[in-house]
Amino acid sequence: MNQVLDHGQYIMGQEITELENQLAGFVDCKHAIGVSSGTDALILALMCYDIGPGDAIITTPFTFISTVEVICLLGAIPVFVDIDPDTYNIDSLAIEETINDCKNESYNVRGIIAVDLFGLSADYDTINDVARNNNLFVIEDAAQSFGATYHDHRACSLADISGTSFFPAKPLGGYGDGGMCFTNDDAHAAKIRSLMVHGQGSHRYEHIHIGINGRLDTMQAAILLEKFALFPDELIARQQVAERYTNIFKKHSSIITPYIPPHCQSSWAQYSIQVDSSDQRQHLQTYLKNNDIPSAIYYPIPIHQQPAFKNKTSKAFPVSEAVSQRIMSLPMHPYLTSEQQDMIIQNVLKGLE
Ligand SMILES: Cc1ncc(COP(=O)(O)O)c(C=O)c1O
Repeated sequence: MNQVLDHGQYIMGQEITELENQLAGFVDCKHAIGVSSGTDALILALMCYDIGPGDAIITTPFTFISTVEVICLLGAIPVFVDIDPDTYNIDSLAIEETINDCKNESYNVRGIIAVDLFGLSADYDTINDVARNNNLFVIEDAAQSFGATYHDHRACSLADISGTSFFPAKPLGGYGDGGMCFTNDDAHAAKIRSLMVHGQGSHRYEHIHIGINGRLDTMQAAILLEKFALFPDELIARQQVAERYTNIFKKHSSIITPYIPPHCQSSWAQYSIQVDSSDQRQHLQTYLKNNDIPSAIYYPIPIHQQPAFKNKTSKAFPVSEAVSQRIMSLPMHPYLTSEQQDMIIQNVLKGLE
């Protein structure tokens, strides 16, 4: 941070290029482009495909609002596909049917945004196949999954364009907002680099696209470089924390532990369990709070039921709706000691009695 203060290149300083090179190498993707947030990474990806009014994008209703907000901000229509009850990610086998429904309704479906919820990658083999067969692009919302693996490939390299977030609570978190786009496509990379600086052309005051101010701050890049040095060890520690939880909780019939398919490793942005009912969840959360243990609900309201989406869709997404009533997340970070974790586990089990 002092180096940044010394050289004073707060905008587009050398630390950004350094971070981009290191993260591109880590996820094995040709281009990494530092941007101002995970949300901006997604909107830039959609802008790269000139998404606008009249277009429709397929996505999941069980996600953070950003995933869907960016579609609507560009004037396009989000079309939801319910989630898989085990992974909580978009039900890849239901996408084709939704594409066919859209054709009947004359929606111009252009692409799919899949979300790697809680740090677990979506089913990209199937998603990319369906997309290819229907001439659609795929965007990976990897805001929560930086560091995860899918068939030995890293999250952020699994779709045409991927976007991650460096929001402080994310697996690789900065000290403020930040994000990154990843792609192997040279033309997409060049366009995103232009779009994120007001559609800049060959010089600062030539504009070849309508863009945004979507740059990553040099200071955040400097912080992220230091944090990234620790990141591989933190991933191992997160995995150990998750395993410790699961080994105990899987013996209890009123807890559903996270399902991680054999070809995947989660980056454990969240450790989320399901309990029997929303009443039981409420009771457990209160019990934990009274014992100074934080917990959170991601997400209590699926996107299609949000007030902002009232009248936009009348469809029901029963799996998302049911999961949103029963899901809750427990403390998860790489520096949880086994003593702290034992205490959390004991309290969870007591709170469920
Ligand atoms: C699934 C998902 N998508 C997008 C975002 C947006 O990231 P940011 O907060 O960096 O804009 C988040 C972060 O909260 C997220 O969890």
